[in-house]
Amino acid sequence: MTTAEASAPISAPVFAPAKINLTLHVTGQRADGYHLLESLVVFADVGDRLWIAPADTMSVEVSGPFADGVPVDARNLVWQAAELARSPCHIHLQKNLPHGAGIGGGSSDAAAVLRHFGIMRDAVRLGADVPVCLSMQPQRMQGIGEVVSPVAGMPCCDILLVNPRVTLSTPAVFSALAVRDNPAMPQDFPGWPDAAALAHWLATQRNDLLIPAMGLAPAIGDVLQAIRGSDALYAGMSGSGSTCFGVFASGEKAAAAKASIALKQPDWWIAQARFLAGDR
Ligand code: C5P
Repeated sequence: MTTAEASAPISAPVFAPAKINLTLHVTGQRADGYHLLESLVVFADVGDRLWIAPADTMSVEVSGPFADGVPVDARNLVWQAAELARSPCHIHLQKNLPHGAGIGGGSSDAAAVLRHFGIMRDAVRLGADVPVCLSMQPQRMQGIGEVVSPVAGMPCCDILLVNPRVTLSTPAVFSALAVRDNPAMPQDFPGWPDAAALAHWLATQRNDLLIPAMGLAPAIGDVLQAIRGSDALYAGMSGSGSTCFGVFASGEKAAAAKASIALKQPDWWIAQARFLAGDR
């Protein structure tokens, strides 16, 4: 079953939050083609939900607003995660987040399954973004994604996630990247007392995949312009796109921005959220 008529939830829910790359610096490329990255990653309090129940054989069913096109067989990363955990089960996956969207999608779902089974190793075998999704905390991500370290002092910002409903292929975006040996992030973070300080610092950083992603999906430029024009402290793109995020000074400002953007762009996916597990 792949659609909204999937059967009722079957066990306690497991949360798979949206992942946001606040920065994404591409600093090199390995011989196997994978890129070396430096990224400041946070998670949002919006995401997919999974219900996992032990079973004799693996099965997956998908519901939710973004269920269409999600595989229900071994191509789905949640299936592969359960196999890595050697734990056959039935997984009900409620897809609330757009996929092919730069906010974790299948990687966060797979990490949720690994977390459920207490498997904290080998996550990178499922995908470069899966290790960072295991903890749901603010982290610095390095290597191809397998080197992660917690970041303290992240303010709990009010944000919008905005997607123009354009799906982007991550390999295609990386292929379109012109320069692969860009400068890394600073070794030390300055400390961000509030959303304004974080926004100010983010303006000095980059997402090196923004230019290639905009080349493939020009609508990303419209999204960034809409967020910037709606009282955001900062607007950026997450991962390889096409989802962009806006950082706001308050929940009221984020809500007002959401309403005004939705009025002009009724077809865009817009979610208001807060960072998960920010210290303040
Ligand atoms: O690891 P994952 O399957 O999620 O990566 C998808 C694709 O993104 C890879 O096949 C590769 O083309 C690209 N990628 C990369 N360097 C990374 C992560 C992903 O080139 N560090």
